[in-house]
Amino acid sequence: MESPLLVPSMLAADHTRLAEDIAAIERLGIKWLHIDIMDGHFVPNLSFGPQTVADLRPKSKLFFDLHLMLENSQEYIEAFISAGADQVSIHVEPSYDIGATIERVRSLGAKPGIVLNPRTDASHILPFLPSVDIVLAMTVQPGFGGQSFDDSVLEKTKQIDAYRSEHSLNFRLEVDGGINLDTARKCRNHGVDTFVAGSAFFKSDDQTKFLREIESMP
Ligand code: DX5
Ligand code: ZN
Repeated sequence: MESPLLVPSMLAADHTRLAEDIAAIERLGIKWLHIDIMDGHFVPNLSFGPQTVADLRPKSKLFFDLHLMLENSQEYIEAFISAGADQVSIHVEPSYDIGATIERVRSLGAKPGIVLNPRTDASHILPFLPSVDIVLAMTVQPGFGGQSFDDSVLEKTKQIDAYRSEHSLNFRLEVDGGINLDTARKCRNHGVDTFVAGSAFFKSDDQTKFLREIESMP
């Protein structure tokens, strides 16, 4: 299993000073930044667009891990990759050609990922696992930061991790929603290697310690 990686979620940063907040993250030695993209349809909220990503790109060397919560992700892939996304994860729930969209992400030079909601069964993502670099298992219903972790997802991460070993696949397994030191430990024991944290990270009074504790989990 990959060593644990902490990925702060920009949604929980101060939206009037994103560049400063992400520069501070980079100074801590963090490597990835999670950027949530919402459309007000697939999820009942709005967040950032391609312009935000493009404006931040020259200011940061962080690996931009985009989480698209869009009904029509296929129509925005190119805009976000041109803007500077390094990885683009798309949800499995809306109806569109998921396989083709994953291939499109890769052909445009970014890493593709597949995302599933807490109540979406793992069977829905199995066909896509050989073609993705990351699987994102939502541990809250997407749309808002600051919600409570859904324990019932742990069985599913364990199942996805087992499938990964059985089929010698090497995608990362990421969780997002309600991640703090306690819930991250539970996820770690259920096969997870990549931990998105919004509120718990940004509200932590010792971000260095938070980072160290996540990344030193066995
Ligand atoms: C929710 C987003 C998350 C959000 C997590 O839809 O996908 O990335 O920022 O926030 P916390 O860690 O506060 O639950
Ligand atoms: Zn997210």
